[in-house]
Amino acid sequence: MTARGGDVARAAALLSAGGLVAFPTETVYGLGADAAREDAVARIFEVKGRPRAHPLIVHLAPEARLDDWAIEVPELARRLAAAAWPGPLTLILRKGPRVAAATTGGADTVGLRVPAHPLAQALLRAFGGGVAAPSANRFGAVSPTTADHVVADLGGDVDYVLDGGACEVGVESTIVDLSRGRPVLLRPGGMPREAIEAIAGPLAEADARAPAAPGTLEGHYAPRAQVIAVSLDEVAAAAEAASGRVAVLAPASAFARWPGLRARAYPLPDDAAGMAHALYAALRELDAAGVDVVIAALPPAAGLGEAVGDRLRRAAGPRWPRSRESE
Ligand code: TXA
Ligand code: MG
Repeated sequence: MTARGGDVARAAALLSAGGLVAFPTETVYGLGADAAREDAVARIFEVKGRPRAHPLIVHLAPEARLDDWAIEVPELARRLAAAAWPGPLTLILRKGPRVAAATTGGADTVGLRVPAHPLAQALLRAFGGGVAAPSANRFGAVSPTTADHVVADLGGDVDYVLDGGACEVGVESTIVDLSRGRPVLLRPGGMPREAIEAIAGPLAEADARAPAAPGTLEGHYAPRAQVIAVSLDEVAAAAEAASGRVAVLAPASAFARWPGLRARAYPLPDDAAGMAHALYAALRELDAAGVDVVIAALPPAAGLGEAVGDRLRRAAGPRWPRSRESE
């Protein structure tokens, strides 16, 4: 039986002893270890089955000083941190010496964020250091948004699961690279682009020079079922053409357009934030129900819709390990 509950002191003591603790954040659950300890961080990669060159995000308490974890911190990073933290924004900066080399996969940059979930903050305060944490799922799978998801994925491989209920945002943090001059959007996520651009100006798109990031490989965030991501107008035809057990994942109000739909209806909230909150649990539920094909309606790209669309497109992409970095 996996140990789980709300014991922050126990979770912090396990981190101090080099253990692995899954904990809730406002985005998804993280699989945490002491970011300053090579041996502890090595266990994350083992348990997740993640290639060691793929860097982890370091989570900090609200009181933490940016300069303890990063060097050459640009002014824009301070402004974004002041505006967005605690919250679903990860900043890529030049790595400070306190961060273990394993945490960043050997890279000279580090991803930092201050999560907004009260239990995450309590854990970070009780522990007193930085916590390196990827999403608490096996490599390539859908991120967990409840403690049950974590236990289902990682079982006894984690020393403790801090249970904080369902994650509010539901998709991972937005990642902005500030380590190479102008700000680059590496991953759309829980903080909408519009909110970041209001402070940072237009964000450049990731190009070939951007560091390899597993979350940016196709075939990530994929459930077992085949996902077909289409516009609302294409849903009916796609459902008609699909074979096997078919489900349609779409805003609740859209189903009135498809009276004769021969597929299981899985209505999501109509607003993008509601969709993000429900998305990963929906994909897991459809997998558990034995659905073969999920026809997913892509939302407009505004607000959290950009992150939802991004995850749906990736879920629809070719599966791991067929992508370029299988190792
Ligand atoms: O919301 C989130 O970000 C969640 C919660 C737990 O905080 N974490 C998360 O971690 O999604 P993970 O490891 O599943 O995804 C982190 C992404 C990866 O694509 C990783 O490559 C990228 O962040 N990343 C981390 N450090 C980086 C760095 N130094 N340079 C470029 N990308 C980095
Ligand atoms: Mg992940």
